Amino acid sequence: MLANKSCILQQLSQTVKWPLLTSFARKLCNRNFSHCIGENANTGGKYKISKRTTCIAMDESGLAYIDTDKNGNALKLLKDWMEEFKIFGKYSALVFNLATADRHGNVSNRNVVLRDIKDDYMVFATNNSSKKAQQIKDNPKVSACFLWSYVKDEKHINRQVRLEGSATAMSHEESLKYYEEEPLYCKIRSYICQQDKVVNWDNLKVEHDKLLKEVKENDKELPMPPCYAAYRIIPTSFDFYFAWDNNIADRVVFVKQSGNEWEFHHVAA
Ligand SMILES: Cc1cc2nc3c(=O)[nH]c(=O)nc-3n(C[C@H](O)[C@H](O)[C@H](O)COP(=O)(O)O)c2cc1C
Repeated sequence: MLANKSCILQQLSQTVKWPLLTSFARKLCNRNFSHCIGENANTGGKYKISKRTTCIAMDESGLAYIDTDKNGNALKLLKDWMEEFKIFGKYSALVFNLATADRHGNVSNRNVVLRDIKDDYMVFATNNSSKKAQQIKDNPKVSACFLWSYVKDEKHINRQVRLEGSATAMSHEESLKYYEEEPLYCKIRSYICQQDKVVNWDNLKVEHDKLLKEVKENDKELPMPPCYAAYRIIPTSFDFYFAWDNNIADRVVFVKQSGNEWEFHHVAA
């Protein structure tokens, strides 16, 4: 039934002005529409009419396509997608959700910032006293998920990258490079915050202001404290998902082979 109505409305969309069409759509479907969104049919644009979450008429449909780079390198594709989103926010492009589990299989997740991507691993930084650090020590298997949702060239784009692999703490020397790049507030945080521990906010504020004063007035150095650690994630599989507007998403799954080779194929959304 809906398909027939949809068909009638689609034919009308070629000739009838948008306000008339929406009014006709209301009558045809005998419903009170909570909202109508889209462009005037006469401009040739796409539109849809929806009642609450029910999308009933004239959507277009297509298939999105993921163009993998020639060598099929998952980490390179991750970088490319991240770069595209960076115009909307340099920092938020780097945020991803990281899931860890303890030795009993209890799972937890949180957002962290990506510090680096190399040819075969990625880096994030955290505090050694945190829950995630403890879980990674007990069980190095991790999974991560990036989401970038944005409008570009009038297209609403959704990109998701999921990956699975293992994480390990990097050496003191390797972590140092990332610590040096941290802004002042992150360095101070490493000094005064034992991540996840109960704090008295007033005491923390006093401690913070005292340290900040010493840094500013006495040029106090803040060398990397032992609780700061960078972590390496070595992915073994990736799942890239790309959809835009009314196109059915495309997905490409990458599985790590020996060396730095990746096998990849499209999978159904
Ligand atoms: C946007 C965003 C970025 C974050 N980046 C980091 C980060 O890079 N490292 C980190 O340890 N925590 C980061 N956090 C805080 C974590 O989400 C989390 O609250 C904290 O690490 C404690 O997690 P855990 O108890 O599971 O170890 C970030 C939070 C947000 C909202």
